[in-house]
Amino acid sequence: MQISGSFLTFSLFLAFILISRASSAHNKNDFLECLNLQFQKSNSESDSIYTPQNASYSSVLQSTIRNLRPASNSGQRPFVIITPEHESQIQAAIYCSKKYGIQLKVRSGGHDFEGLSYISETPFVIVDMRNLRSISIDTEKNIAWVQTGATLGELYYTIAEKSKTLAFTAGVCPTMGIGGHFSGGGYGMMSRKHGIAADHIIDAKLIDANGQIHDRESMGEDLFWAIRGGGGTSFGIVLSFKVKLIVIPETVTVFNVTRTLDQNATQIVHRWQYVAHKIDENLLLRLFLRSISSSNGKRTIGAFFTSLYLGPVDDLLPIMQEKFPELGLVKEDCTEMPWIESTVFFAGFRGQSLDVLLNRTQVSGYFKGKSDYVKQPIPEYGLKSIWKFLNEEDVYRAELQFSPYGGIIDDISESEIPFPHRLGNIFMIEYIVVWSEEENAYSQRHVNWIRSLYSFMARYVSKSPREAYFNYRDLDIGMNKIEGNTSYKQASVWGFKYFNNNFRRLVHIKNKVDPTNFFRNEQSIPPVSLW
Ligand code: FDA
Repeated sequence: MQISGSFLTFSLFLAFILISRASSAHNKNDFLECLNLQFQKSNSESDSIYTPQNASYSSVLQSTIRNLRPASNSGQRPFVIITPEHESQIQAAIYCSKKYGIQLKVRSGGHDFEGLSYISETPFVIVDMRNLRSISIDTEKNIAWVQTGATLGELYYTIAEKSKTLAFTAGVCPTMGIGGHFSGGGYGMMSRKHGIAADHIIDAKLIDANGQIHDRESMGEDLFWAIRGGGGTSFGIVLSFKVKLIVIPETVTVFNVTRTLDQNATQIVHRWQYVAHKIDENLLLRLFLRSISSSNGKRTIGAFFTSLYLGPVDDLLPIMQEKFPELGLVKEDCTEMPWIESTVFFAGFRGQSLDVLLNRTQVSGYFKGKSDYVKQPIPEYGLKSIWKFLNEEDVYRAELQFSPYGGIIDDISESEIPFPHRLGNIFMIEYIVVWSEEENAYSQRHVNWIRSLYSFMARYVSKSPREAYFNYRDLDIGMNKIEGNTSYKQASVWGFKYFNNNFRRLVHIKNKVDPTNFFRNEQSIPPVSLW
């Protein structure tokens, strides 16, 4: 009997698939057995292990999925979720993952734009930090130790419980996890005065790829440098960060004023680009741009100037009148409050009790985000073209956030920590488009829209590299191959955009601390020796 070449190829291919599936199932069972054994050895309860057979598996998985888009596109769900109560359980997970070649992902708050903490193309397990979230504050030394499973809201709340004049500089959304947010940067409403979260990390506890627990001293200055903006995932699992708290006045002032096109929004936004990065560093004038319905039912652009001033309104008004009279800010637009209430205000919960900061329930939705850095003001005709793009999407679906830089950000060297976006940046743009479950069938339309706006914006933003903010993760700018070796060339495509020249040092450190690339994802630093 003659067997054709193509039939033979097909049979071999089928056999390969069946063998891989069988060995993958085998590895999964071995992994679970290993994990249970390790848990028994350390007298750990196995009720922090969830498999799809467990009734709570889905709710544990879903509860901190902020962006449903990546989850809806990916075929794989974790075959185990571990919610450690003790660090020895993380060591057990690392040991068994290594032994059976299983990918391990770590999740803190689940806000990754591309869902890299909860999706993968290969069989994987999640170490979910939700139960490791203690926070201790020392008001005499102005420091805090915070475990990475805590949320930003919990940190802000706990600081305010202890002091009216201490605070921390980090992002706006209270459900973000400390683990991802601090290790990738952490820009917020006080960043012009106090820098980003990662600038204030003074110590950390981390478990490395060998399961060893380190503090700053034992991990060494290289690794300690890397996890302050270079992303935790590439280097280990960060258990906790020690941070320096900042001193703030008892009263701060907030405002959120809107200008539409018939109120000269284009000219005011244009002017904002010359003012916002140079104005008094106690003032952060953040700008949100959306297409909205005006009172006559027509579409217009809403420019929302959402701002924080670290001081009383009577100090703020003369600054605004001198430096930015075009906005026409008046006292009635402003509200004085303690800093902690301002965190509730900026999170969109104005008037609600501070307890809202402790609410870990996520508002999930579908979205795609991207980012850019602007070094020269965008001309008025450029802004008008952006308005056209915004008007192509439905009202309120798409948003551009302009976050001003300058202030202390300019004074910190580009290589102080891996986050390199310092002097010379006027502002950062976040592009975002959101949609609902029912519209998910048309998700590609929205993704195409944001990609075409991004492509148009190339002429107005940073070049060579076109910089991007690591915490606004965007797989469009490049990704690693997960199976096999990640090449330096492949990773350079996205690496220089996030980290500029710090990328090389990150690669060097990765090569030293995790040469087998145990901690890896689609945008982790590859361990390639460059020297
Ligand atoms: P998640 O758990 O998804 O982790 C993100 C990444 O970090 C993953 O790769 C994960 O594996 C890794 N990781 C998590 N915990 C780790 C640990 N303990 N050790 C090692 N690696 C760990 N940013 C900003 O600067 N300012 C802002 O105001 C905002 N606002 C904002 C609002 C909303 C609604 C979203 C969705 C996002 C933001 N961000 C932001 C971006 C945010 O900083 C970014 O998504 C962070 O990575 C979120 O950290 P999580 O721990 O929540 O994410």
